[in-house]
Amino acid sequence: MIEFIDVAYEYRTAGGSVPALRGVSTTLAPGELVTVLGPNGSGKSTLARLANGLLHPSEGRVVVDTIDSTDAARVWDVRSRVGLVFQNPDNQIVATTVEEDVAFGPENLGVERESMHQRVRNALATVGLSGLEQREPHTLSGGQKQRLAIAGALALAPAYLVLDEPTAMLDLQGRADVIDVLGRLRDAGTGIMHITHHLADAAAADRVLVLTGGSVVYDGVPATLLADTRLMQRCGLTLPPVGRLAEELRAAGVDVPPDALTAESVVAAL
Ligand SMILES: Nc1ncnc2c1ncn2[C@@H]1O[C@H](COP(=O)(O)OP(=O)(O)OP(=O)(O)O)[C@@H](O)[C@H]1O
Ligand SMILES: [Mg+2]
Repeated sequence: MIEFIDVAYEYRTAGGSVPALRGVSTTLAPGELVTVLGPNGSGKSTLARLANGLLHPSEGRVVVDTIDSTDAARVWDVRSRVGLVFQNPDNQIVATTVEEDVAFGPENLGVERESMHQRVRNALATVGLSGLEQREPHTLSGGQKQRLAIAGALALAPAYLVLDEPTAMLDLQGRADVIDVLGRLRDAGTGIMHITHHLADAAAADRVLVLTGGSVVYDGVPATLLADTRLMQRCGLTLPPVGRLAEELRAAGVDVPPDALTAESVVAAL
C-alpha cells in the first residue's frame, strides 16, 4: 500500500515558495487502478514524484509498504517498489536496442544475467513488444515507445506503477494499447496510479482522484462522479462528447450506465 498521510508540498524557488499540494490523504493498494484527474497546475505530477520518494513532503508523510519515503537508508527500496513513467517516451529511452533499454534498470540494480533475461522477456511480453528485442527504439511508433518505457519500469518488478500522462503524446490506438496494458497489470496485482487529462480513462478505474489547486476534491468510484454533473463542474471536469450523448440518451429514458464514456460502451447500452 502507498499511503499519503495529510501531505503538503511546497516548491522552494528563488522568489519564495510555491504551494503545490495540501492536506492530501489517499492510498494506492496492490491490484488497484486509480485514475488521477485535475486541471493544469493542480499538483498531479507533484503527487507522482512524492509517490516514489523523488520529492519529500513538506508536511505529512508518504509511506510505501510501511517504509517512510524519507527513510534515507531505504531510498532504493522505495524507488524499486514504485515505478514511474512519464509523458514523453523519447526522454525515457536510454539504449540502442529495445532489449538493452529494458535491461538498463535491472542491470543498474545488479540483477544477475539469467534472471535478467527472464525479466526483460516477461516485461516485453506484458506490453506486447515481444519480437522487437533487436529494434532500435527510435524506430518504434509513439505508442510502442511508451509501452517500451512501461516495460523498462516493469523490469524492476515494481509493486506499484505511477504513470504521469503516459498517453498525452499518443494517437487513439496508442492510447488504447497503453490503457489495455494498465488493465492487465492491475489484474496481475500491480497497483496503478494513472495521471491523465482524458476523463474517459476514468471509466476503467477502480477509483478516481480529482485534484484542484493542490487539494483532493473527489476520491471515490468513477460512476458516482460521472453521474453527478454538479460535482463534475465543481471538480472542473467536463464530459467528453460521448459522455454528453450518453447523458442526453439518459434524459430521453434510455438506460445508459454513468461510466459509459466510450462509443462502444454507449452502443452496447442501446
Ligand atoms: N519545479 C518547480 N518549481 C516551482 N514550482 C513548481 C515546480 N513544479 C511545479 N510547480 C508548481 O506546483 C504546482 C503544481 O504543479 P504540478 O506540475 O504538480 O501540476 P500538474 O497537475 O501536474 O499540472 P499539468 O497538468 O500541467 O501537468 C503548480 O503551481 C506549478 O506551477
Ligand atoms: Mg503534470
